[in-house]
Amino acid sequence: MALWGGRFEEAVSEVTQEFGASLPIDRHLYRQDIAGSKAHATMLAAQGIISEEDRDAICAGLDGIQADIDAGAFSFDINDEDIHMSIESELTRRIGEAGGRLHTGRSRNDQVATDTRLAAKALAKQLMEDNLGLRRALVEAADAAGDTILPGMTHLQHAQPVLFAHQLLAYVWMLTRDFGRLRAAFDAADASPLGAAALAGTTYPLDRQMTAEALGFSRVIENSLDAVSDRDFLLDLEYACSVMAVHLSRLSEEIVLWSSQEFGFITLSDAFSTGSSIMPQKKNPDFAELIRGKTGRVVGDLVQLLMTCKGLPLAYNKDLQEDKEGALDAAHTLDQCLTVMRGMVSTWKVNAGRMRAVMHRGHLAATDVADYLAKRGMPFREAHAVVGHLVLEAEKAGCDISELPIETFRAASDLFGDDVVGAFDLDAIVAARTTRGGTARAAVAEQRRAVEDALAAD
Ligand code: ARG
Repeated sequence: MALWGGRFEEAVSEVTQEFGASLPIDRHLYRQDIAGSKAHATMLAAQGIISEEDRDAICAGLDGIQADIDAGAFSFDINDEDIHMSIESELTRRIGEAGGRLHTGRSRNDQVATDTRLAAKALAKQLMEDNLGLRRALVEAADAAGDTILPGMTHLQHAQPVLFAHQLLAYVWMLTRDFGRLRAAFDAADASPLGAAALAGTTYPLDRQMTAEALGFSRVIENSLDAVSDRDFLLDLEYACSVMAVHLSRLSEEIVLWSSQEFGFITLSDAFSTGSSIMPQKKNPDFAELIRGKTGRVVGDLVQLLMTCKGLPLAYNKDLQEDKEGALDAAHTLDQCLTVMRGMVSTWKVNAGRMRAVMHRGHLAATDVADYLAKRGMPFREAHAVVGHLVLEAEKAGCDISELPIETFRAASDLFGDDVVGAFDLDAIVAARTTRGGTARAAVAEQRRAVEDALAAD
């Protein structure tokens, strides 16, 4: 018979036992569940609601159960529906009547919300650690890149040369904001629902502040209906995961491109590549592709929970049982993606020569040639048109703008002098972009300091 057997005459149908159970998912929350129960029992005793003997028996019994689950020596029964009932039934089998007093002034509704919030906090913490690890790896790669330049792109077309370090630090900034979103998700989960009971609070003199503090929550949720029925803290976590996954997916896409024969900018280490079962020559960037692919799952998890929550009246509804699978999946997926990405970034080989070699195509100096004219008095719009015409000539001749003869420049404008060749120097082009946040070495060094400050603060 289920724990609510009193009101029922028939046992639940076998098909619904498994259908209604959340045990396969929430059994992973046993530590949170036991911590919550111990805090609750301790508070019940402190308030004189149960005896100190009962409290001691409950806490010792729960410790024993935790040790058994840790050791893989606990047999879960799907008929118990969820982790809360599994543990409570087993506790009562072990310690008798005292076990039946644990649930005084509590409902599974505030219990599951408590467990889930504790789990969400732990997941957010873990992801924050992972996030810092990847940021450090990217910063190290940026430091190692020195003066290496590559064609900066827009629309995947050569645009202007940039420092490779600058390109990598762009991802560090995305991840820095991701960290902020994870911290916000942690803060959202950091409020205790325990004591809300089923939906309305209870008649027992519970001390909610006491259980909140015992469980490490920074505050108590002020409305019992809100406490048991909202899962926005999980949405926050899944949103943080989704945006971070999208950022990792963008970097993955670059890795796939950069490691292709066409680009050849990086070579992935063997440890982070795979071969083909038929083509002996293949070395594939599978793991970057997989991170890109898993992003769909993570975003799907977020959308699933948004849909689950959208039509729910107050307060608890069983739909909410569908909250944990996606949240755990999103967080665990991200945890793996961050670890794998870190491994890829710290072991790839950068082919600086190849990055430079491809830059003789694409007229990367065109903007600077236009600036050359503008700085000699020609309105920039006019300069843009003059250089556009030169690019057209270069295209027709099948060369880069920097390879056109000086006479062609002079014919286009008498403002061109021999020194125009200076405008073709890719390193000088990079060095000239000294704007704050720009790609010049000095500006990147400034940026690097801000990156370090953010790392130190997080
Ligand atoms: N297994 C449930 C869940 O995960 C626990 C809460 C059930 N409460 C209830 N009244 N049915 O949401």
